[in-house]
Amino acid sequence: MSFDAIAPSYRTLETIAFGRDLQGARVACLGELVSPRRALIVGEGNGRFLCELLRRHPDLAVDCVDASQRMQEIARQRIEHELPDRTNRINFFPQDIASWSSPEHQFDLIVTHFFLDCFPEHRLAEIVAKLSRAAAVNATWLLADFCIPPGGFARWRAGLWLAAMYRFFQFTAGIEAKELGDPSPFLRTAGFALVSQHLFRHGMVKSELWRNIGILPVRPADILSAASDAAE
Ligand SMILES: C[S@@+](CC[C@H](N)C(=O)[O-])C[C@H]1O[C@@H](n2cnc3c(N)ncnc32)[C@H](O)[C@@H]1O
Repeated sequence: MSFDAIAPSYRTLETIAFGRDLQGARVACLGELVSPRRALIVGEGNGRFLCELLRRHPDLAVDCVDASQRMQEIARQRIEHELPDRTNRINFFPQDIASWSSPEHQFDLIVTHFFLDCFPEHRLAEIVAKLSRAAAVNATWLLADFCIPPGGFARWRAGLWLAAMYRFFQFTAGIEAKELGDPSPFLRTAGFALVSQHLFRHGMVKSELWRNIGILPVRPADILSAASDAAE
């Protein structure tokens, strides 16, 4: 999987398809953060969220993990251009989340905007478990993602959009997921509780704030078994 090929046109494609709604979803919960000190952003992409986060929290230290070197380069250039005095607050890790070594309980903010939707459910379980081990007690997890409205025309329309988008990203970036999975059961099992949710684009885009209410440590096997219990 690599977003390198579409990294330069990612923002243009996003604007054509969704206008300002995805960026609206990325920043929707920023006002609810209470002075985070150390953040982990996974799959940050081109740095638009990172800039907004650092504008509001200039003293925050940020670790950014993204498998696409091109995306990270664009994010780095954006920060150098827009917030040159904050570049020393960020560590970029151009690597796959699977090979990133997670320091335990270090981050009081975790961000995975439009990242978890790239993975099938069995990978979601591993990734959520890994990231939750890196979360401090009371950590906040910000998550903007696509979702499927409960019914009616909005559900039908979201289904068409998602089918088209999954084909596009499978073809251009080789994403593993073939359809949208729901990370919520994995987050709950990892000890996080949903605190707030904002919906965009007729309910097909969500922005959520989850808080770690402290069931640690978490093993992937616990999350997998909880997910299958939930499905039964
Ligand atoms: C759909 S883009 C989302 C980018 C951005 N966060 C946004 O809000 O639009 C997914 C991002 O996750 C990164 N990514 C995908 N798979 C990854 C993996 N296994 N490890 C680390 N980063 C990954 C991609 O390089 C890309 O930047």
